[in-house]
Amino acid sequence: MQQAAGSAAFFGGNCRFLTKRLWDAANSPPYMHHGMCTTMRGSILAHGGEGLASRNAFMALPAADQDAIIEFLKTLQVLPPGTAHRVVDENFKEKVWPPIPDNQL
Ligand code: HEM
Repeated sequence: MQQAAGSAAFFGGNCRFLTKRLWDAANSPPYMHHGMCTTMRGSILAHGGEGLASRNAFMALPAADQDAIIEFLKTLQVLPPGTAHRVVDENFKEKVWPPIPDNQL
């Protein structure tokens, strides 16, 4: 961005990306700098460079562990001002967590 607009250096870029914060990731799709990833899983699989080892480690996990990471990422939300509860459903209503097991209802 410090190069003359339209110059070869401008379009060449600097091949660097800032690692994005994840603390509001669930609030802010689409993902990555180009916005072409619409899912958390797609975002992880799009990692290269310094993030490639993490991508490969993710792919090597059993499906259930991959799913657990995706579910964790989906909890990284910034709640709207005034939200009364810390654990909420998709409508920001209170959610009991951990869930009550069926045999204790
Ligand atoms: C378990 C490990 C990791 C997970 C689950 C993860 C997850 C994610 C997710 C969900 C995004 C999209 C964020 C958004 O667009 O709002 C992202 C972006 C990014 N991550 Fe990771 N990441 C991991 C490891 C790493 C590592 C080790 C690096 C580099 C050292 C890295 C570098 C980046 C960069 C540079 C972006 C932004 C890329 C872009 O905007 O195109 N990540 N990551």
